[in-house]
Amino acid sequence: MDNFTYKGSELFAEGVPLSRIAGEIGTPFYCYSRATLERHYAVFADAFSGLDADVCYSLKANGNLAVVSALACLGAGADVVSGGELKRALAAGIDARKIVFSGVGKTAEELTRALDAGILQINVESDQELETLRRIAGQKGVTARIAVRVNPDVDALTHAKITTGTRGNKFGIEWPRVHEVCARAAAMPGIELSGLAVHIGSQLLDLEPFRAAYRRLGDLVAGLRADGIEVRNLDLGGGLGIPYDGGPSPSPQDYASVVRETVGDLGCRIILEPGRMIVGNAGVLVAAVIYVKTGAVKNFVIVDAGMNDLLRPALYGAAHAITPVREPSADGKLEEADVVGPICESGDTFATACLLPPMSSGDLIAFRTAGAYGAVMASGYNARSLPPEVMVDGGDFQIVRERIGVDDLMARETVPDFLGHARTENGGPGD
Ligand code: LLP
Repeated sequence: MDNFTYKGSELFAEGVPLSRIAGEIGTPFYCYSRATLERHYAVFADAFSGLDADVCYSLKANGNLAVVSALACLGAGADVVSGGELKRALAAGIDARKIVFSGVGKTAEELTRALDAGILQINVESDQELETLRRIAGQKGVTARIAVRVNPDVDALTHAKITTGTRGNKFGIEWPRVHEVCARAAAMPGIELSGLAVHIGSQLLDLEPFRAAYRRLGDLVAGLRADGIEVRNLDLGGGLGIPYDGGPSPSPQDYASVVRETVGDLGCRIILEPGRMIVGNAGVLVAAVIYVKTGAVKNFVIVDAGMNDLLRPALYGAAHAITPVREPSADGKLEEADVVGPICESGDTFATACLLPPMSSGDLIAFRTAGAYGAVMASGYNARSLPPEVMVDGGDFQIVRERIGVDDLMARETVPDFLGHARTENGGPGD
């Protein structure tokens, strides 16, 4: 459920017509609904009530300061994967003691920043990372709280590019060595082993892989405890899928039942790292039709958003439902067309054989469920702008990231002196 609905014959975000925002800031733009965001967080957090559980929102899904601040106000923690995300989480007011740091390639500088910030735990993913952290903690005379991220060798049954928990993936400590690595970490000076972490993938629509991974984790806890190694925190990762196409998807309550059944009675503090589930449905990408083109074998609706603005269809073949901002009449005819962007690649296709009411230049459309992995994955490819982002709250909206245009990006570029003589009056290289 979200707060993007037709009122009269117009698509609104809460109390604001999307066409009004388009009129004021131009297209394309991302629009987030504060009410939807807060509702999703509440539904997810409530599903775990009664358990000692922390919801550490995964910033990689959407790290906009407004989004993260809204969640911080509700008591969310954060899962971060870079020094940049750590900075964002802290700037948005997330309590450092509720921040976990994951990722296979944390640099010494990033580990140092995490130690300085006093975060809840660093999820260690390799022997070398453990060694680096031990060294840095030793130099600083502090103790690093860690969890060992395990690779449980469980197939998440999702897209190959976002599967992370099988043997061939780069993530976590391989299953046969986990016990040994935990034992070593527990005995290391400067290291405090506080728990275990796992994340098997993203956009899981089947709960069984979670069940399998968490059972393995439970067995591991028992084995470690038998050896006198205490495990206090269990970080269960993110990954709960959402219905992009309106199909069935597991509810947070169903997911919480799996958590309760598998690891609920181990006396551990549970850490959850949802990203997409919290913010996916809370955002849309609004674009305008540039042209409608009749091709040799199909028709194209060419819009002013491209794969640089919303990469998921091009990268994963993901489908985002497309809603015309002006409500089509119930008995109106629909026409089949591919909805494409202006980028010079055929992969810049959002939908094939999409049924839409007749569209014309200037008409607005909304790509639904674009709040997660949308704006954060945008680029300036084809010298296009990074799209602006707005947040709606009731009848108000505010720009929460300005459009970052080609002038902003060019201002960061320099033509080296040794080419300088070739500059023309236009400021560009001459002949
Ligand atoms: N925790 C860790 C360690 C992760 O690697 C991820 C996502 C999450 C939590 C959050 O997962 P979520 O609840 O959002 O599924 N760009 C892709 C998704 C990449 C996910 C990467 N890791 C997409 O657009 O589908």
